[in-house]
Amino acid sequence: MKKRTLAMLMSVCMVFGLLTACTSKEGENSGSPDPSEAVSGAVSASVPVGGTIGVCIYKFDDAFMTTYRTVLEATLKEKGYQVLVVDSNNDQAKQNEQINNFITQKVDALIINPVMTSAADAIIDLVKRADIPTVLINREPTADQMSAYDKLVYVGCDAAQSGTFQGELILDTANKGDINGDGKVSYIMIQGDPENIDAKLRTEYSVKALADAGVEVEQLDIQRGDWDRNRGQEIAQTALAKFGDQIEVIFCNNDDMAIGALQAIQAAGRKVNEDIYLVGVDALDAALDEVQKGNMTGTVLNDANAQVAKAVECMEALLKDGKTYASGEQSVYVDYVKVTPDNVADFMS
Ligand code: GAL
Repeated sequence: MKKRTLAMLMSVCMVFGLLTACTSKEGENSGSPDPSEAVSGAVSASVPVGGTIGVCIYKFDDAFMTTYRTVLEATLKEKGYQVLVVDSNNDQAKQNEQINNFITQKVDALIINPVMTSAADAIIDLVKRADIPTVLINREPTADQMSAYDKLVYVGCDAAQSGTFQGELILDTANKGDINGDGKVSYIMIQGDPENIDAKLRTEYSVKALADAGVEVEQLDIQRGDWDRNRGQEIAQTALAKFGDQIEVIFCNNDDMAIGALQAIQAAGRKVNEDIYLVGVDALDAALDEVQKGNMTGTVLNDANAQVAKAVECMEALLKDGKTYASGEQSVYVDYVKVTPDNVADFMS
């Protein structure tokens, strides 16, 4: 009897022991329901407790998207996700293939920076058929395109606001941009990729802010610089050679092109804020330096940190809470901020 009791006790202990071992093992591998809890707890941050996230970036060789990508990857890893990031090399066909590969690998969610928003229908069709929660970032499709899939959300900024802020930076100068006092502001516009909504709206709204304030404007030239520093330099160099002192303002759709334009301005012996104004968008570290030194009139913060935080929050709502987004409510915006010599120190690390 004693023996049988001991044997029973032992087998109960063994079963209990096994169960305990299984539970803790399962806990380690599949993670707690709250990944942030798991990271700060006993489970190592390198274990993909939150699942696997596929990230497509339109092209790695883009200054602002490099900052964005670095913050995004760090944030997701910190939260315990396994992160797979691919470079779409500015090639939409390649990006579609990458999305298909992620679908085959059964990633839990996708974060996509589309190459071409005009191709968003195809992207949305792919992720919808695979039923994968998806966050689009940085390049906004139309509300109509997004309404095709309710596990889809866009996180970015309202590009019109950044354009308006650029115009206001010029309006805030002593002569409202009219350096030569001829009653009008003569400018050149260095555009990003004109297919892109940011490029379109920044171009339109920067000038509109001046016109709305009753300032006459004259466009001397507009050229596409595809967000690229070298293109910004070449375009500004050519325009400065052609129009010389007539140019009072150089509007650049982003900072990288503005830094390039600054090189051309300096090479031409011109001086920003004295005989020419220069504005960009993004608040890249290099641009903040130039604003502080007085070599750029100002820039507009394109807040990568806040956009990443929102994108991850929306992804987790889709992934963990099963949230769906109603048509017309699928765009989530983060505010831009004007950066001038007066407040630039607040943005420098
Ligand atoms: C804009 C940014 C640009 C460029 C572009 C790519 O928001 O200001 O610098 O990164 O996105 O689409």
